[in-house]
Amino acid sequence: MACCGRSLDSPCTLALLVGFQFAFVLYFSLGGFKGLVSVLVHTAEPEFDYSRPHDVYTNLSHVGAPPAPPRRSGTGPPATAAPLRDCQLPSPLLVGPVSVHLSAPLTLDEIKRRNPLVSPGGRYRPPDCEPRHHTAIVVPYRNRQTHLRALLYHLHPFLQRQQIHYSIYIVQQWGNGTFNRAKLLNVGVREALRDEDWSCIFLHDVDLLPENDHNTYTCHRQFPTHLSVAMDKFRYRLPYPQYFGGVSAVTPDQYMKMNGFPNQYWGWGGEDDDIAARIRLSGMKIVRPPVAIGHYKMIKHKGDRGNEQNPRRFDLLKRTRLNWRSDGLNSLTYELLSKELEPLYTNLTVNIGEDPRLPQGKGLAPGRAPPVHPRGAGAGAGRDPARQEKRPERRESAAANVTAAKPVGAKTEPKATNGTTREKTGVMK
Ligand SMILES: *[C@@H]1O[C@H](CO)[C@@H](O)[C@H](O)[C@H]1NC(C)=O
Ligand SMILES: *[C@@H]1O[C@H](CO)[C@@H](O)[C@H](O)[C@H]1NC(C)=O
Ligand SMILES: *[C@@H]1O[C@H](CO)[C@@H](O)[C@H](O)[C@H]1NC(C)=O
Ligand SMILES: *[C@@H]1O[C@H](CO)[C@@H](O)[C@H](O)[C@H]1NC(C)=O
Ligand SMILES: *[C@@H]1O[C@H](CO)[C@@H](O)[C@H](O)[C@H]1NC(C)=O
Repeated sequence: MACCGRSLDSPCTLALLVGFQFAFVLYFSLGGFKGLVSVLVHTAEPEFDYSRPHDVYTNLSHVGAPPAPPRRSGTGPPATAAPLRDCQLPSPLLVGPVSVHLSAPLTLDEIKRRNPLVSPGGRYRPPDCEPRHHTAIVVPYRNRQTHLRALLYHLHPFLQRQQIHYSIYIVQQWGNGTFNRAKLLNVGVREALRDEDWSCIFLHDVDLLPENDHNTYTCHRQFPTHLSVAMDKFRYRLPYPQYFGGVSAVTPDQYMKMNGFPNQYWGWGGEDDDIAARIRLSGMKIVRPPVAIGHYKMIKHKGDRGNEQNPRRFDLLKRTRLNWRSDGLNSLTYELLSKELEPLYTNLTVNIGEDPRLPQGKGLAPGRAPPVHPRGAGAGAGRDPARQEKRPERRESAAANVTAAKPVGAKTEPKATNGTTREKTGVMK
């Protein structure tokens, strides 16, 4: 004690300070408390070798096994096939890390040929066992043909190896108005649940490809799941603790509990943070797979026209606490223009209206974006699905060929300008 006097100059105090400093540096360089614990306790994080990934179609030939023929054919009523046994857990077909092909995806026909067991609408059910999970994958979309093909090429075999029953829904925002990811997700959830009693709904950006098939596309019973915890773009780390963007999942119950997603986020950014806030405000939390499993690659692309940064996002976020009960699933209005069962996906085309805040002169082309420019390509400019230069010019004929068109329910679009709405519904009906 003698040496530790009050004086700052005393060598003992200095030694203590240096000691503390060293301890802090060590602490943070190990990644804070968690890192420290994992060093001391040796946690059982799974380990995967991402340097030697498998082809994403590995093991798929095993899946092709025809449904087991009814065994005792001869005795009893012949029509009743033996009930399938439950699928094994985990699926024996999983291989871990898979390679991701970003360039020059195949054509839709070629992808279909490689996935013979996928049925129209992009649906799949394991032929040889009873699936334990029923997952709808909802992808907000506009004019990203190449990304869509890359996603379908990758996701179909990926999910088939997981032996789940699934369907892929592309929710396409009609028109040139500002993109609204969260509202499209609301539409996708509602429309998917009209088809089937899905036990789990995935909210999936079109440009994210999972790199490890142990990342199962299933839901946590209690809490919403965030799956894209380690994206190459963020150097395989979570960018911030409340991050909920990219790929996430909810059960229908969880979705109802948080009143769905906000409808007011027009343009890029903020909506995923709003969703994260809703999860908290409705008394839930976010769960995640281990970082070693939640690896994703993002398809790079340029900024999005029609998906400029939303300048109001911080204002909106401040009001989530006040708004979440009144804005969401219970205030959703839209118009389903068409629903087409394509070989590899269900194409939902919807009119979700336009940002009511946009100045809308009568003569203004609906597609004109507001004069807001994505500043600095920052962490995620253009992360969301949207836009591209050329729209395929086949609106009318496509509308005529709608496989199961049903503009369901009361869906008028109050926000769209008068003339535009009439023209739209006129064309599509
Ligand atoms: C799946 O592929 C892996 C790697 O090629 C292999 O070790 C495993 O046996 C395969 N599983 C089945 C069920 O064929
Ligand atoms: C969107 O913009 C394109 C090109 O600017 C135009 O040809 C098309 O008619 C617009 N679509 C709608 C629905 O306004
Ligand atoms: C979806 O359907 C709409 C309307 O028929 C069509 O214009 C659009 O090209 C389709 N999109 C995709 C990705 O198939
Ligand atoms: C779509 O409709 C057009 C005419 O309405 C028809 O010629 C064409 O064969 C149809 N295509 C499909 C895929 O049904
Ligand atoms: C739509 O426009 C017409 C004239 O163009 C007007 O008479 C009518 O009141 C408008 N309806 C709405 C709902 O704004």
